Amino acid sequence: MSRIVYINGEYMPEDEAKVSIFDRGFVMGDAVYEVTCVLDGKLTDFEGHVARLGRSLKELGIVCDITRDEWLEIHRKLIELNGLTLGGVYLQVSRGNAGDRDFHFPPAGTPPTVVLYTQEQPHMLDGPKVEKGVKVISVPDLRWHRRDIKTVQLLYASMVKMQAEAAGKDDAWFVEDGFVTEGSSNNCYIVKGNTIITRPLSNDILHGITRASLMRICAERQIKIEERLFTVEEAQQADEAFYTSASSFVMPIVEVDGVALSGGKPGPVAKHLREVYIEEARKAAI
Ligand code: PDD
Repeated sequence: MSRIVYINGEYMPEDEAKVSIFDRGFVMGDAVYEVTCVLDGKLTDFEGHVARLGRSLKELGIVCDITRDEWLEIHRKLIELNGLTLGGVYLQVSRGNAGDRDFHFPPAGTPPTVVLYTQEQPHMLDGPKVEKGVKVISVPDLRWHRRDIKTVQLLYASMVKMQAEAAGKDDAWFVEDGFVTEGSSNNCYIVKGNTIITRPLSNDILHGITRASLMRICAERQIKIEERLFTVEEAQQADEAFYTSASSFVMPIVEVDGVALSGGKPGPVAKHLREVYIEEARKAAI
């Protein structure tokens, strides 16, 4: 079934939506994106995603005058047109069609290219990864140093996912200066006793919207979160580990560089946080 997608103000079948070969997103990776989860046909953590989109656009000086209410309307219309109940909405804004390849930004007033589409994820709530947990390998963090901006420059993230899969694992953790930064497309955490440890926010990592919601949920329940750096070795000795993202909620990690955690099975803290996060996300979805 062909999806109905949104492109620059219009809704149309996906195979009719076209972007110029000179688009800055295509030629220069000059674009930002968001992925908002859809549960029961509703958007979760929407305000956080729109706020971060605004920040990413501002940091790169991409001008896009679509308002929060208009974003909401586009998301909702796509969900409805495509009958989406479980999955996500992908949104991308590039600096637009520059008319040629050029390192210089196109002139002010060049309209951005705005694309949104739905993605079904029928196994978001269950599936083998949730049941068994995921295995990760560590890799050097070779990305640029503005990881707080959600750009479409995802080549290295894509390469390390392939590397992990080639090694028979599920995902990769980036390591810089001896410390874990984040996962290839998620924020990561270790659990020691009743304390959850995660890297503090900076330009070194994406400021995850799921992370922010989980921290709020933990604070409301007096679950202790310590924001500090940790190493792969510390993770290997931890009681549990997990990661968060809009497309995976809270995902238990059961192995780091060949060392099993929590007996090689999803740990109780990760399982509990996953349940609580999904429950809260459902309640707050719009
Ligand atoms: N990835 N860190 C990185 C590098 C990410 O790519 C993501 C999200 C996160 C988690 O952010 P959030 O909780 O806001 O989803 C952290 C999305 C899901 C993706 O690229 O598909």
